[in-house]
Amino acid sequence: MDHALATFGSDIGIAFSGAEDVALIEYAYLTGRPFRVFSLDTGRLNPETYRLFDKVEKHYGIKIEYTFPDAQEVMDLVREKGMFSFYEDGHGECCRIRKVKPLRKQLTGLRAWITGQRKDQSPGTRMAVPVVEVDPVFQGLEGGPGSLIKYNPLSNITSAECWNFLRVMGVPVNDLHACGYISIGCEPCTRPVLPNQAEREGRWWWEDAAAKECGLHSGNVSSSSGGEESSQSNDLWPAGGAVAALDRPQLAALLEGPRERDTLVALYAPWCQYCKALEPQYAELAESLAGGHVSVAKFQADTDREFAAEKFGLKTFPTLVLLPKGGKGGDFIKYPSERRDAETLGMWVRTLTGST
Ligand code: ADX
Ligand code: SF4
Repeated sequence: MDHALATFGSDIGIAFSGAEDVALIEYAYLTGRPFRVFSLDTGRLNPETYRLFDKVEKHYGIKIEYTFPDAQEVMDLVREKGMFSFYEDGHGECCRIRKVKPLRKQLTGLRAWITGQRKDQSPGTRMAVPVVEVDPVFQGLEGGPGSLIKYNPLSNITSAECWNFLRVMGVPVNDLHACGYISIGCEPCTRPVLPNQAEREGRWWWEDAAAKECGLHSGNVSSSSGGEESSQSNDLWPAGGAVAALDRPQLAALLEGPRERDTLVALYAPWCQYCKALEPQYAELAESLAGGHVSVAKFQADTDREFAAEKFGLKTFPTLVLLPKGGKGGDFIKYPSERRDAETLGMWVRTLTGST
């Protein structure tokens, strides 16, 4: 934080969402340097978030630079599609109007910005967030690619460390946290998560994990959406291990049923970094279930995307599906979480199959 503020002075702004990223403001305050804070007021934030903005302004004696979406664009959207169009056709359009465009405008007045992104916020989209980077998406004051620096100073700290810091320093926090919210965005698009759920699972919960970036940090998705497709990647889960390989006819037959066993299948791509991260966890799970009545299998889906998309609704890698015993006619259960460690996966499989 000190490096960022010392380097860019009044040409840098802290992007404050009204959640635990209030830690950024406390860090900036502790440097003793002047700093600027901006917030994107989408018009759909929770009342608790507006209250926090006010508390923060008073606590630190600062004025937050609020940005608003273009009134005509919002009017056109809600008159044409209603207030909750994002539940029907995805959050992209509304986020673009209410968040991304105002952010783009704000950033054209800056040479650098500071965000509260952390790696531990999402194993799906944030595990590669660097502490400082050339912004891969937006442009700054001077215009052109490379004209904006993006600092993510909280990248390597954990949620627990962040919260210890907030408590120790007596920083005002959003009242929603006390109601089970971890990640906080707009009111209609955020809900509390259950204990042990990944923190961004409460955001845009009706959408697929990889879609859970609103466009403010879309560079995360393009640069870490599983890596580039490459024919040179070694296959995952080598033959002879506890994870059985299925080919298309075998998987199609299993899907059609009738099935004599429960089967868990990972639809994967060998070059995908999330599939690679899954490899040891899935192997451990397969070993722990070996000899029981659940088969653990893999299907390489990148070479047969159409089939996987049509039959399993595959959008991102990896997708894990359970084909329950006795099922037939194409029924399956999709694993709903980004949390893919052996223990959590095992709990899900054992609960659904009754295995021990
Ligand atoms: S989001 O992309 O899904 O909305 P998230 O809520 O995780 O982002 O917040 C990550 C960081 O993005 C925040 O710490 C903050 O720096 C920035 N950010 C997100 N929403 C806003 C907002 N409404 N106003 C300003 N900055 C925001
Ligand atoms: Fe619209 Fe939801 Fe995006 Fe907020 S988070 S801008 S309400 S789609």
